[in-house]
Amino acid sequence: MTFVVTAPCFDCKYTDCVSVCPVDAFHEGEKMLYINPNECIDCDACVPECPVEAIFADVNVPEEYEAFIALNDEMSATTPVITEQKEPLAE
Ligand code: SF4
Ligand code: F3S
Repeated sequence: MTFVVTAPCFDCKYTDCVSVCPVDAFHEGEKMLYINPNECIDCDACVPECPVEAIFADVNVPEEYEAFIALNDEMSATTPVITEQKEPLAE
């Protein structure tokens, strides 16, 4: 299992999630964050941190967000790790 960042993160990037991840699994894209499924240890710590409820366990991803499972896998391979909270894109 892994956790997955989905559509509500897009254009928001609150980044509250990154500071609680014990294994630095978050990667930063231009518009949203991605979780590296090979790093995530399924601790669940990031889920309640996200103000827009963008993070789900892969087994619980809503149907309309299912494409984000593969997207997190692909994009986390080519984007840098983010471990510190920063100014969000959302106002
Ligand atoms: Fe990190 Fe835990 Fe969230 Fe996985 S579930 S991304 S290990 S905080
Ligand atoms: Fe995105 Fe939520 Fe983290 S908006 S950056 S998943 S806190």
